[in-house]
This record gives sequence, structure tokens and C-alpha cells, in this order.
Amino acid sequence: MLVNFLRLNLLLKNQLHITPLSNKTEAPFELLELADPSRKLIELYLKEGMCYIATLNEITVGVIVLSKINTTTIEIKNIAVKESEQRKGFGKILLKYAEDTSRNLGYTNLLIGTGNSSIKPLTFYQKEGFEIEKIEKNFFIKNYSEAIFENGIQCKHLILLRKKI
Ligand code: COA
Repeated sequence: MLVNFLRLNLLLKNQLHITPLSNKTEAPFELLELADPSRKLIELYLKEGMCYIATLNEITVGVIVLSKINTTTIEIKNIAVKESEQRKGFGKILLKYAEDTSRNLGYTNLLIGTGNSSIKPLTFYQKEGFEIEKIEKNFFIKNYSEAIFENGIQCKHLILLRKKI
């Protein structure tokens, strides 16, 4: 009995909890800025979007922001997992949560955008069933004040991916 109780406690302790960000709590900018270096753009989409926080043992380890595009389509504007917690499957859980939440809200299409230099997210999204839909050439040059480099590549173009949900 005690062993079962301790096992259950351990399981719950290491479980990821995802909840909407309460309007009394400040958004986790340190995490959001891992995915998007523009504080200005983050603040813009936080205003109109829905922000969800992932906590592990009461510590914030992930974030995801959804924003309505039209009655059928919703976009993931930001997804990030704390560096020390990456590659443990939390990104996949957040993506699945975004899909389920969007479907429950009545949307049938989920969009996500990333840069041409974001090799890891590009692999991740395609493995999770997103298909490249269009490329907005020079998006990051036009919308960001400083040049962004990742994996030795300049981030210039926005790659928009779509998944039917
Ligand atoms: N190299 C290559 N692929 C990687 C990777 C790495 N170091 N880390 C993750 N991935 C890919 C893999 O496809 C992996 O699936 P697999 O484990 O079945 O191979 C998939 O991502 C999901 O892994 P998971 O552990 O669930 O992801 P994560 O918790 O590390 O979160 C991100 C993924 C992208 C959210 C996270 O890396 C992150 O926060 N990055 C910084 C912010 C960012 O770039 N956000 C996206 C902006 S478009």
C-alpha cells in the first residue's frame, strides 16, 4: 500500500502539467525568447493569443502560444522548452496539447512558422505530421532589427507549415 502510494507520488511529481497562463501571472519571456528574439512581436501575439504554460514539479519548463487566424485555422506563434529540459519529449507533449486544444475549440487546421535556419524545429514539425505550405521570402530580414544566425545559416525566410487536425 505504502509502496503504491510512494510510486503514485513519484509519477505525479515527474508529470508535466499544462495550464492556460492566468492573467495575473507574467508570461515567461525568457522561454518565449528562446523561440523568438523579438520582444515586440511576442508582446503583440500574447495580447491576442492564448498562452499555455507547462510546469514540472511546479517549475515552468515550457510554453506555447496559439493565435486564431480565421474560423477554421489557428497558429502556434511560439513553442519553447527550457534548455536543460529539452530532448525529453516535452516539446512533443506541448505540440500534442496544442493540437487537442485547437481541435476541441473547433479548428481543423494548425499552422506553425519557423525559420530556414531552424533545423531542429523543421525536423520536429515534419516528423509530427506538419507539411510545408509556403515560404515567405526575407520575412526575418524585414521584421527583425538584427540579423539572426543559427547552425551557421542566416535566418532569412519564414517557412509556414500546416497540419490538418
Ligand atoms: N537535434 C535534432 N532534432 C531534435 C533535437 C536535436 N538536438 N532536439 C529535438 N529534436 C527533434 C526530434 O525530431 C525530436 O523527436 P525524436 O526525439 O523522436 O527524435 C523532436 O524534436 C521532439 O523532441 P522533444 O524532446 O519532444 O522536443 P523538445 O522538448 O526538445 O522541444 C523545441 C523541441 C523545438 C520546442 C525545443 O528544442 C526548443 O524549445 N527550442 C528552442 C526554441 C525554438 O526553437 N522553438 C521553435 C521556434 S520555431
